[in-house]
Amino acid sequence: MTKKIAVLAGDGIGPEIVTEALKVLDCVAAETGLDVRIEHGLVGGAAYDASGSPLPEATLALGKEADAVLLGAVGGPKWESLDHAVRPERGLLGLRSELGLFSNLRPAILHPQLVDASTLKADVVSGLDIMIMRELTSGIYFGTPRGIRELSDGEREGFNTLVYRESEIRRIGHSALRIARKRDRRVCSVDKANVLEATELWREVMIEVAEQYPDVELSHMYVDNAAMQLVRAPKQFDVIVTTNMFGDILSDCASMLTGSIGMLPSASLDGNGKGMYEPIHGSAPDITGRGCANPLATILSLAMLLRYSLDESDAAEHIEQAVADALDAGIRTPDIYSHGMKKVGTVPMGDAVVAALRRAYS
Ligand code: IPM
Ligand code: MG
Repeated sequence: MTKKIAVLAGDGIGPEIVTEALKVLDCVAAETGLDVRIEHGLVGGAAYDASGSPLPEATLALGKEADAVLLGAVGGPKWESLDHAVRPERGLLGLRSELGLFSNLRPAILHPQLVDASTLKADVVSGLDIMIMRELTSGIYFGTPRGIRELSDGEREGFNTLVYRESEIRRIGHSALRIARKRDRRVCSVDKANVLEATELWREVMIEVAEQYPDVELSHMYVDNAAMQLVRAPKQFDVIVTTNMFGDILSDCASMLTGSIGMLPSASLDGNGKGMYEPIHGSAPDITGRGCANPLATILSLAMLLRYSLDESDAAEHIEQAVADALDAGIRTPDIYSHGMKKVGTVPMGDAVVAALRRAYS
């Protein structure tokens, strides 16, 4: 049966990196006969410019009927002065929320070839393989009331609400514990239960859920300590499960352990295998159009798409191996460059992965 993939390239470097991932998908389809249909849609600033909305109805409909969504990046200085309701980021948050993609997987894996690209010492990061599970459709990102109001004394006050329902904590808890069963069976739940009631409940519910997984070890850590531990001794972690905002921050932090934020893919899943896949980095306006963006996070996101939404784990492994082969060949975009390697741009990096993939299939 034909699988339908909605492709939303978005803004900034989004179109450049997505083009490379689609080359890789074409190659997989040609080599394996995988039957996929691509449909492009607008999201973020590009959608706002074309239609006045960062998430047009047509894009939402496309996302809903597709088997999976591949997204580039959204946002940029051009749209920063817009009202919050129509900012590019709203398009992304709207998709996550409307598609019910509550479970966000952000694997931080250090490819051994990039051990020198990390700003941390080799022995601290070599062999790193962490899975950060971020709750993605609730918490302070979506809680109400929110806004900026004027107080009676004329001073303005900004406010947001951190809320979690038990059911929202429970379902991401189950996701994390299930993922841990396929790994080292250790989950560290990160909260700020010493200060924030919402995360005191988070901790209680995580403990309840974990009782159903006696084979998985659950531990707890405050977020400030977790940030420190991530740079001090990151290999102590297997799966980290945390709230929407803490996960946003900790995953950027973890990305630097792997050498570059340009290496980290992500999957955002609902309860039924439907997912949206995107690199965890942003639209990188500073390098847009220069042809030097690293497409590997997007290519690795495509691998996750094949694994989690299309049940094509063999193709996913081939892509991951092709990325490793390209790195083995010394090919590097500037963000992961180190002395003695071959520095290339976005397109040749994509070509190198495609060539390695062809070799792997032949
Ligand atoms: C991410 C990004 C987004 C987020 C932005 C672009 C809204 O930082 O996916 O980590 O904060 O979730
Ligand atoms: Mg982020």
